[in-house]
Amino acid sequence: MKRWLSSPTRRGCTYVATGGELHVALVAGVPADKLVLHGNNKSYAELRMGVEAGVHRIVVDSFDELDRLDQLHAETGVTPKVLLRLTPGIKAETHDYISTGQDDSKFGFGVSSGAAEVAIERARSAASVDLVGIHAHIGSQVFAVGSLGKAAGVIGEIALNHEFEELSVGGGLGVPYVEDERAPTIAEWGRVVRDACVEAGVSARITAEPGRSIAAAAAITLYTVGTIKDLPGIRTYVAVDGGMSDNPRPVLYGSGYETFLPRDVGADRTKRVTVVGKHCESGDILVREGLVPADIVVGDVLATPVTGAYGHSMGSNYNMVLRPPVVFVRNGEARLVVRRQTFDDLTRFDT
Ligand SMILES: Cc1ncc(COP(=O)(O)O)c(C=O)c1O
Repeated sequence: MKRWLSSPTRRGCTYVATGGELHVALVAGVPADKLVLHGNNKSYAELRMGVEAGVHRIVVDSFDELDRLDQLHAETGVTPKVLLRLTPGIKAETHDYISTGQDDSKFGFGVSSGAAEVAIERARSAASVDLVGIHAHIGSQVFAVGSLGKAAGVIGEIALNHEFEELSVGGGLGVPYVEDERAPTIAEWGRVVRDACVEAGVSARITAEPGRSIAAAAAITLYTVGTIKDLPGIRTYVAVDGGMSDNPRPVLYGSGYETFLPRDVGADRTKRVTVVGKHCESGDILVREGLVPADIVVGDVLATPVTGAYGHSMGSNYNMVLRPPVVFVRNGEARLVVRRQTFDDLTRFDT
């Protein structure tokens, strides 16, 4: 679940991608009219949940979803406000697995194939949905804001042609994880999108869905070092009490992270190590080329920063490794918000 901010009213919404996320958001007290329901394969039950809760927008991703919404309207008489997710045909400069705006994508209605226009005509004339606008999200961890601007230009022109009142430009702004990475600011992204929309002559209300760029730097993950294995002439493995189950990003995308020891954050980091987890896989690597202080010992707490996005939410119990707790800290005060799992949790769903 992520926050999205809208302009010019600055009315903040939260967007969810599944029925499960919708349920959790509602239980957490997020008002339904501040929720946007996304997802590339929303089931009838999920669409029904969204309609019955009264979500702010449903972002429709396929003709099959339009069929389901027809059926839902016939059953409930409710006409939800919807956006159509369009695929602008722009490949974001990011890992293939998180690139969503190219023609060959499971997401959205393709602009270049003509599917977008067909979907717009169909939704426009349907009694089952109130089509208020269009949406595009071309991927995640995008550093080249030019691509985000290009995508905004493509859907901006469509919004203009169809006189839509709302245009959502998605999220995707990248964040730096390792020292030599530099990311554009949210303001730079905003300028590029605004310029593209001004150039296209868009007068629609523009909304955006920043996720990672808000949440990622808000968290660090703390591990305890359990084993240090020096392989002379090869590498030093530092094994910690977590791994791909609490952060699958390095395994999925080859993502990099920095490491430091909280007991001495300013220490020179001169020792090159590979930080690994405790899973039964050689690929269970958290930091392939990490630098740590030379005096690192078993029992040290080791931190990886920038784990506030796509960490806890992508976690699993692989190898029955317990999920770590989540602790919020403000002005030196700590508050447990997700408790540490126990072994009993591991069999809780077994019958
Ligand atoms: C539709 C949509 N909007 C926004 C986002 C947020 O992306 P990011 O966290 O890269 O800003 C996502 C991420 O998956 C998404 O699918």
